[in-house]
Amino acid sequence: MPKLKVITFGCQANELDSARIVGLLAREGYNLTEDEGDADLIILNGCSIRDKAEQKLYSRLGTLQAVKARRPGLRLGVAGCLGQREGEALLRRFPYLDLVVGNGEHLAAIPRLLQVGGGRASASGAEPTGLFPSDVTIHRDSRVRAWVGIMEGCDNFCTFCVVPFARGRERSRPPDEILREVADLRRRGYREITLLGQTVNSYGLKLDPPVSLAELLRRIDREIDGAAWVRFTTSHPKDVTAELAEAMATLPSVCAHMHLPVQAGSSRTLARMRRTYTREEYLEKVRLLRAAVPGIGLTTDIIVGFPGESDDDFADTLGLMRTVGFDGCFAFKFSPRAGTPAAEDPDRIPEPVKADRLSQVLSLQNELSLLRNRVYIGRSVEVLVDRDLSKRESGLAAGRTRRNTIVHFGGGEVAEGSVVTVQITEATPHHLKGVLIASS
Ligand code: 5AD
Ligand code: SF4
Repeated sequence: MPKLKVITFGCQANELDSARIVGLLAREGYNLTEDEGDADLIILNGCSIRDKAEQKLYSRLGTLQAVKARRPGLRLGVAGCLGQREGEALLRRFPYLDLVVGNGEHLAAIPRLLQVGGGRASASGAEPTGLFPSDVTIHRDSRVRAWVGIMEGCDNFCTFCVVPFARGRERSRPPDEILREVADLRRRGYREITLLGQTVNSYGLKLDPPVSLAELLRRIDREIDGAAWVRFTTSHPKDVTAELAEAMATLPSVCAHMHLPVQAGSSRTLARMRRTYTREEYLEKVRLLRAAVPGIGLTTDIIVGFPGESDDDFADTLGLMRTVGFDGCFAFKFSPRAGTPAAEDPDRIPEPVKADRLSQVLSLQNELSLLRNRVYIGRSVEVLVDRDLSKRESGLAAGRTRRNTIVHFGGGEVAEGSVVTVQITEATPHHLKGVLIASS
């Protein structure tokens, strides 16, 4: 049996694509291996969103050249956003690379390319327009948490972002197909299902007839019937609707958390980013969500040093962070990406200014997260136990709350996947600590 290793870089969508690749190649007789020295095929599934992400993949590819020199039978492939963007150029640049594939339907070409008589091949040319075939069984590592891709691609063309080019236009899976997958996951005992899409809350708007994310959540909630928690990510502020807030408020399975990237706090920068909302409009969406779902966990993404970002613009970002009081934030220095309008903007912010702004955002977020988390000291929270988060060496179990806060706790044996009640005794910026008071 040939052996396969898939190395993933980047976001949850890439993790899901890797799980799809493993499922696809299992049908061709490949078994998974952790050991790259033992693999017949290694696929690097990579991210292209920022330069740093690409460099990570290139450096890993460099180390695999040596492995291949020792084992000439080994085949090396690059898949995903980087494969999509760079295409055949990667085969020219890395003579030891055998295979390049892009996203969406291109991923499904891997078995065919492997048949191309020992040669080197690529399937990435045009922007993807299709979806990964739904009849492939996705390989799932976890027995507790599962990702379900419900839509792919993006139509927003924010001026800094490569995603619309790397993943193509927005397209949604039919609801019945998604419901079948969810029903199957429920039967197999999964306890948490996360619906994935680049702009997940514009799900279904282009289907005929259109189906909103709120409607899909209602159908999923009926199907799940309390057997699992449901999350969805990533949401775009423009598609946060009263209907969605209402669905979150009323459907018992849907968790009270939304990842809602703001990117910047100044309306001037937001316009230059082509985010299609102003600072006020973003804050309005936050008010809508908080009114409907009291205590909702809100996390965000922020880019610092976008071209033309003045000190005042940046102060607006810090101000907005304080006004909202996010629970968490991923912050990035602007990275110019070839082919995007922002990369052509001559008004570049110097690297040291970007670095300084990044550290200000991170330290403010630490302060805000700690304030948010301290509120929970003395309270009891529901936690879905997740072995991957536990500090096994210290004997602590761990999991996440419905608001997506990590909780470490002692006080008894708990099974992975169970929902337990924990009394919170301590807070740090990144997690809560507590003691188990009830397990079901
Ligand atoms: N530079 C820096 N950050 C970026 N992101 C997307 N493109 C870029 C870029 N060119 C960030 C955004 C997005 C997250 C996934 O990555 O904040 O929400
Ligand atoms: Fe990129 Fe998100 Fe903007 Fe789409 S909405 S272009 S994925 S940042």
